[in-house]
Amino acid sequence: MAELFNVYPLYDIEPVRAQGSYLWDTNGTRYLDLYGGHAVISVGHTHPRYVQALTDQLHKISFYSNSVRIPQQQELADKLGSLSEHPDYALFLCNSGAEANENALKLASFHNGRTQVIAFRKGFHGRTAGAVAATDNPSIVAPVNYNKHVTFLPYNDAEAAREAITTETSAVIVEGIQGVGGIHVASDDFLQTLRKRCDETGTVLILDGVQCGYGRSGKFFSHQFSGIQADIISMAKGMGNGFPIGGILISPKFKASFGLLGTTFGGNHLACTAAIAVLDIMKEEGLIENAVRMGDYFMNGIRQIGGYKELRGRGLMIGIEYDFPVESLRKNLLFEHKQFTGVAGKTIIRLLPSLAIGTDEADIFLEALEKCLKTEQTAA
Ligand SMILES: Cc1ncc(COP(=O)(O)O)c(C=O)c1O
Repeated sequence: MAELFNVYPLYDIEPVRAQGSYLWDTNGTRYLDLYGGHAVISVGHTHPRYVQALTDQLHKISFYSNSVRIPQQQELADKLGSLSEHPDYALFLCNSGAEANENALKLASFHNGRTQVIAFRKGFHGRTAGAVAATDNPSIVAPVNYNKHVTFLPYNDAEAAREAITTETSAVIVEGIQGVGGIHVASDDFLQTLRKRCDETGTVLILDGVQCGYGRSGKFFSHQFSGIQADIISMAKGMGNGFPIGGILISPKFKASFGLLGTTFGGNHLACTAAIAVLDIMKEEGLIENAVRMGDYFMNGIRQIGGYKELRGRGLMIGIEYDFPVESLRKNLLFEHKQFTGVAGKTIIRLLPSLAIGTDEADIFLEALEKCLKTEQTAA
């Protein structure tokens, strides 16, 4: 029997059913999902409208290549342009966050003919060649991916960026809120400086919204808080609520030509149907507003409990940094209190729940967190 290539450390839990913000395992045990499988579950597990849309589409046609008309692509572009307030941007569809960033970096380089890229410390952009080279984690960069064209600067250091971005720079790639790096929010001054310096030098500004985008921060894209426009915005994760889809929104300054970008699977009928259902649900249920409301609710509750070193984030992208390793705290939350949370580094709990989460679920988490922190203190 062939074995699975063993790259993922696993919890001994097998979810077999999910609904809203909950999962059930093979024993029927219910788990509260505060992590959405890495920020993917945006409108809630198995939302009836999402399930219906995909089921209907599956019965009609699930795939044909990008050599024929697929009207769902245009419907998705229209709805995305409208809800994200980028009606004049063009949409290119692909299948994942890494692929979105790959296409963004490539398009920037096609556009200005340059090779140098500026990225930021603790940034994460994916695991494919170009994206991983712009990711600040040498342990996942293979020698074949190592790219001497990428320079890493400190995040939120406007002065360093002002100096480093020159007429040689093809692209600056930055997360509006660093996710994997530990929920660090970009300052307005930092993003505005990047925008200004990119304009002055003809550099393409790429905002990686794969994790912080799609409504999670309380705006459609988190950099919209800073009042800047990106040249290219990458997306994935919450876009399909679990169905693999990614994409880039491209400013009108870029000219398309046949063959410039391409993909076999990107923009297929099922992926577009999933993404359209997500946008419809987000709009009808006011989920971006809910992300603001519930983000405040979580933050206030966490503040009241205290015991942390720093609390960071925006909307439903929350990082709680402690001055001790959080492994046992997370295990306690998972195995005793049946709650999935995420981690960043060794000391930061990362919360990335569905944008539809409610106060009942938040209260369940806050109560468990308080108990777990007491257990940690007793053990210390
Ligand atoms: C900010 C950011 N960009 C890109 C990626 C890569 O996305 P994917 O795993 O879909 O390739 C991730 C994944 O965690 C991410 O957080």
